[in-house]
Amino acid sequence: MDHLIDEEHRYLMNTYIRQPLVIHKGRGTRVYDPDGKEYLDFVGGVAVNNLGHCHPSVTVAFQKQAQRLVHVSNLYYTEPQVRLARLLVEHSFADKVFFCNSGTEAIEAAIKLARKYSHDRHGPDRHEIITMERSFHGRTLGAVSATAQAKFHKGFEPLLPGFRHVPFNDLSAVSEAVSKRTAAILVEPAQGEGGVQIPDEDYLPGLRKLCDEKGLLLILDEIQTGIGRTGRLFGYEHYGIEPDVMTLAKGLGSGLPIGALLAKNAVAQAFGPGSHAATFGGNPLVCSAAIATLEVMLEEDFVLDNCRRMGAYLVERLKWLQQRHPCIVSVRGLGLLVGMELSIDGKPIVQDCLEAGLLINCTMDRVLRFVPPLIILKEEIDLLIDRLDLILKKRAA
Ligand SMILES: Cc1ncc(COP(=O)(O)O)c(C=O)c1O
Repeated sequence: MDHLIDEEHRYLMNTYIRQPLVIHKGRGTRVYDPDGKEYLDFVGGVAVNNLGHCHPSVTVAFQKQAQRLVHVSNLYYTEPQVRLARLLVEHSFADKVFFCNSGTEAIEAAIKLARKYSHDRHGPDRHEIITMERSFHGRTLGAVSATAQAKFHKGFEPLLPGFRHVPFNDLSAVSEAVSKRTAAILVEPAQGEGGVQIPDEDYLPGLRKLCDEKGLLLILDEIQTGIGRTGRLFGYEHYGIEPDVMTLAKGLGSGLPIGALLAKNAVAQAFGPGSHAATFGGNPLVCSAAIATLEVMLEEDFVLDNCRRMGAYLVERLKWLQQRHPCIVSVRGLGLLVGMELSIDGKPIVQDCLEAGLLINCTMDRVLRFVPPLIILKEEIDLLIDRLDLILKKRAA
């Protein structure tokens, strides 16, 4: 294990702060190191392994596809890509889909689509996109520029122009920021990387209303909240509204790299042949995994239902912990996107959890984030709570 870690330091660029753990195998809600030590996974590939590790339906689907056809380029038609697009359209607000390979790429595509749509309708001056403080949209330059967190900008300036940043969950701030240059509003239905921030119930409906009044596009970044994470297939379903454009990635391919941009017809038609492309986008292999993922989620009521029930249970149990530990400031969640904010640095707790056989993650320095597979069980949540209780007790002593 140490040998592998040494070699990683030698051969890979130093872009990640990794936990000192080599993961060799995964099944359901558990992963294993090369010696067979088991870890209960509340990270889930950072909200990717929504059906758990190596779900048999997904594994069999892409094994079969790998034997038939892996890649042919978008110069040709392939059945899995069309089937996946149809599934997404039939189960969302959207009429059309564009496939790419990651979340950040889906955001780039959304920025380009919004600009092109607005350019075609209103000319080049109306191109600005309003985004939210503490947002996270990805690491390519357009997505970094959209992301309103200075720490992701530092050293990479000049950023892409054309973004205005306003506080999250503040309707009047967005309203005041709208000008004759505004083309769109880009927002996560609940912020994940930004410390698990759940907006007020009237926030998304308020944004929808504002967009309708001012003729703006509402773009939802559902890269983290989509594919069942919040207990509905898409986060917007909680709020009784529909966006004009939506980005997906993470859970869509159960770990195979895929991103998607979804839009209503009126907006999607702004892209024509040659407007946008991705060599690997929507290739048969990744699409076969995504089709299997969606089919399991749509056909087995258990997954979304379990996500809602276990999400509520996890929040309830973390609130119980909050009463016992003064360092816990607040607990918040939507489905199984759950955060626990501390008054102390969260990193040592993540480390203690690892030693105790639990994978958890920390965002914004003090927010412990729990995004387990949606198939997590009550007993597994109880195990997390028991171990966290001990860890926090020891830290306070
Ligand atoms: C809301 C949101 N948008 C975009 C991204 C970027 O996705 P990717 O890492 O696949 O580029 C992330 C990743 O964490 C995300 O949570």
